[in-house]
Amino acid sequence: MQILGRDTEAELALSELRKGKHILLHGNHGVGKSALLHHIHEVLSASRSRGVLIFLHDHQTKAQFVELSRHLLEAGILNPSSLDLPTKYHDLPPEKIEWNQIRRAVNRINIRDLAGSIIPALAECEDKIIVFVDDLSFLTPTQQAFGMQVMEHVQLAACVADKRKKKGIKKLLWKMKEIEVLPLQPSVSSKIVQEYITERGMMVEEPDQFISHIVKQSGGMPQAMFDMLYESSHERVITKQHIREMKHEAGVRYFDFTPIMLIVGALIVGARYVAIGTGNADLYVVAGMGAALFLTVRFFMFKGMG
Ligand SMILES: Nc1ncnc2c1ncn2[C@@H]1O[C@H](COP(=O)(O)OP(=O)(O)OP(=O)(O)O)[C@@H](O)[C@H]1O
Ligand SMILES: [Mg+2]
Repeated sequence: MQILGRDTEAELALSELRKGKHILLHGNHGVGKSALLHHIHEVLSASRSRGVLIFLHDHQTKAQFVELSRHLLEAGILNPSSLDLPTKYHDLPPEKIEWNQIRRAVNRINIRDLAGSIIPALAECEDKIIVFVDDLSFLTPTQQAFGMQVMEHVQLAACVADKRKKKGIKKLLWKMKEIEVLPLQPSVSSKIVQEYITERGMMVEEPDQFISHIVKQSGGMPQAMFDMLYESSHERVITKQHIREMKHEAGVRYFDFTPIMLIVGALIVGARYVAIGTGNADLYVVAGMGAALFLTVRFFMFKGMG
């Protein structure tokens, strides 16, 4: 995968992995963690002294264990007889195992039993194994123990979005070298946008203005850049008018309504008390209507934003 502007992070990650450490790439959604993890995997795949590399794409922990079982079966590291599978599969050599036939049976095994079969097999394996996990965001505190056991025998290279929210998997994270994936530098963002425009043959009236708008609005988040580029790519020609409209939309989208909502809420509550205190029935009714309206608007606003 072609990625730009991640030399420092990639080098750091590779050097930690070469030292035998576990690594964790963390950063906001869409900042480019998965892309970086794939890149690291590719670099290692091309090197000779790499050992066994396993990439797990699934997000759910159970599915990750199933995926891991598959790789280990196919690499001959896990013996089919140690999984709870029909006996006809027990003596098959790795190259004869057809995943499509056993997938359902493996899926039915619970995570505890899967871990129970996988972990001794990993312990026995003499090759160095690196397991790439994209990503760990759905790991629950109860599943943490299985992850820790796996980590005793393999090196883990994983990503997670917003690790601060993952208090339940703290112990696992303690063992990992954390590498923060930060938003891209404007010069790199600009290059990515430029390449996209050229590759798609997009026609832009004011390229500099268009590029700088996307670079600025995305805040260095590649996912945001691609979203904006994709939306614009439906236009036959990107006119100045289109860029102006994009700016307007972005302005509305990123406008923070919280302070206004707080003030409106306070006014309504205040009005209610004044109405009760002064015995003003009209004001009381108006405040009640205002409160109802306020709650409705708030409900739809948060729904829309979510
Ligand atoms: N350095 C980069 N250069 C070019 N493209 C990139 C770069 N980093 C990420 N991208 C692209 O940006 C998009 C988002 O990146 P990615 O999926 O890696 O983000 P993420 O941090 O894993 O997001 P999430 O938290 O949602 O999983 C992808 O299409 C990816 O190919
Ligand atoms: Mg990702």
